[in-house]
Amino acid sequence: MMIVLGLEGTAWNLSCALVDEVDVIAEKSATYVPAKGGIHPREAAQHHAEHMASVVKAVLDVARKDDLAIEGVAFSQGPGLGPCLRTVATAARALSLKFGVPLVGVNHCIAHIEVGKWKTGATDPVVLYVSGGNSQVLALRRGRYRIFGETLDISVGNALDKFARQVGLPHPGGPKLEALARSSKEYIPLPYVVKGMDFSFSGLSTAAAQAAKKYDLADVCHSFQETAFSMLVEVSERALAHAEKKEVLLVGGVGANSRLREMLNIMCDERGAKFYVPEKKFMGDNGSMIAYTGLVMMKSGVTTPLAESRVRPGFRTDEVDVTWQ
Ligand code: ATP
Ligand code: FE2
Repeated sequence: MMIVLGLEGTAWNLSCALVDEVDVIAEKSATYVPAKGGIHPREAAQHHAEHMASVVKAVLDVARKDDLAIEGVAFSQGPGLGPCLRTVATAARALSLKFGVPLVGVNHCIAHIEVGKWKTGATDPVVLYVSGGNSQVLALRRGRYRIFGETLDISVGNALDKFARQVGLPHPGGPKLEALARSSKEYIPLPYVVKGMDFSFSGLSTAAAQAAKKYDLADVCHSFQETAFSMLVEVSERALAHAEKKEVLLVGGVGANSRLREMLNIMCDERGAKFYVPEKKFMGDNGSMIAYTGLVMMKSGVTTPLAESRVRPGFRTDEVDVTWQ
């Protein structure tokens, strides 16, 4: 069975993992927490550089103890923050040379999808990928993950976090909003923006912050969720019909939300589609998703020569040939 080491580090989380074809063998992560405010790319990269040796060592110790032969080194090539990506790519190149095994540059968004399929058994789903940095509806078509719909401005996670900050709730806002929304009694209309297959969350976030000055905060949180999630479900439903798929897979940090899961579940039930969500530990950024995607890429014959291993901060999901399915 093939064994691949993977390194993730596109933003906050630095994570190293070892996987084989059926499971995660080892994983060690270190998360950058800014002193105040949002993420600072150079500080995050500094964090990753400082913790690289310890997360890699933790994983290599397991490989050594169990006498496992690493056959490839996968790394998150993009999209993400340039300085963070460069730190991770440098470490990955060094490891690939040290072990004399191929390097595999992995698209971070595709890794979220592949680990979701691996851990749920979904085979050919419409994917709703909702996180702090991304909001997309995708499906495999003619050898690539095509983006059916995406945000025209900020991601839904970013909108939740921005609104939370404006009403004085601590970061990350998503879980706090979800908890508050449970005690809501009424829905307050907020801007619902779907254009074609795309959505927009920036106006919703601003309008919700305005509404919070007048209405009960729990009601505003509830209304924010209902509005934003309805937009996501509407586009997912249309993608399901359009792409003629029978499965929906939810991935990314916002996928932890029970109300979003419930709404997608209802929609799938009504359409006779199957709904899949991976365990929580595979929803956020993790090294295992990079290692596993690297593994399936390698098995299909794809590796990344050193000369093509430069980082790709704007790497799009639909640039990758899905050679493994
Ligand atoms: P990516 O690089 O893939 O964009 P990321 O590192 O920015 O990912 P994730 O860890 O996937 O982000 O997700 C973080 C986001 O998930 C935050 O915006 C956070 O508020 C949101 N989130 C976490 N839990 C919940 C929840 N229960 N409900 C809604 N949103 C949530
Ligand atoms: Fe991510």
